[in-house]
Amino acid sequence: MSDAVTLPADAFRYDWLTRKLHWLTFLLVVALYSSAQVIDFFPRDGGRVEARSVHIVLGLSLLAVVLVRLAWRKTPWGGRQPPRAGLGDLAARGIQLLLVLLIGINILFGLLNVAVRGDAIFTWVKLPPLGAGFPGVRDVVGGIHEWGANLIVALAGLHALAALAHHYLLRDGILRRMLPRGRAA
Ligand code: HEM
Repeated sequence: MSDAVTLPADAFRYDWLTRKLHWLTFLLVVALYSSAQVIDFFPRDGGRVEARSVHIVLGLSLLAVVLVRLAWRKTPWGGRQPPRAGLGDLAARGIQLLLVLLIGINILFGLLNVAVRGDAIFTWVKLPPLGAGFPGVRDVVGGIHEWGANLIVALAGLHALAALAHHYLLRDGILRRMLPRGRAA
């Protein structure tokens, strides 16, 4: 029998930086989704630019976190993965990869959205509206960005539900792989 079968699931723990980056990703996705919902509540001349700027800065922060995670994965310390076996593990890994892919694509559409609309980021930058000469492009880019965000939140919800089901129903220690060390005992 191989080690992958005999070891308990919580014998594996992601490294410190991967765990920090994972929870930072989670917080940024929640903050991005929530901030997007409130931008239009602000009047155009009363805080909307600032609200949108917060959303854009959060998106750029998520881009930085994803790039650090991808670079860290290339190192011997950040590339460690748990042993995987069976269809359940394959589905879990598939959802994780899809999440990273969708987050990457949606960040690109967020940046494209900023460029076609010609948004300002606080008083720091004001871009020219590159989409001005292309009627409809703004709505298409904005629509894809919005639906991408909905898809990410739905998939992340599924991923979180699976992690909680492993923890509370199957009690197999998979959630502990991602928890801070103090919470693992
Ligand atoms: C926006 C929210 C989230 C995103 C984008 C996300 C993404 C990911 C990704 C990409 C991985 C693979 C780790 C890696 O190799 O870097 C992962 C693993 C994991 N996540 Fe999340 N996650 C989110 C929220 C959550 C939440 C809320 C929970 C718990 C309730 C959770 C629990 C876990 C666990 C336990 C693993 C390790 C699973 C395994 O080893 O098979 N995640 N997550």
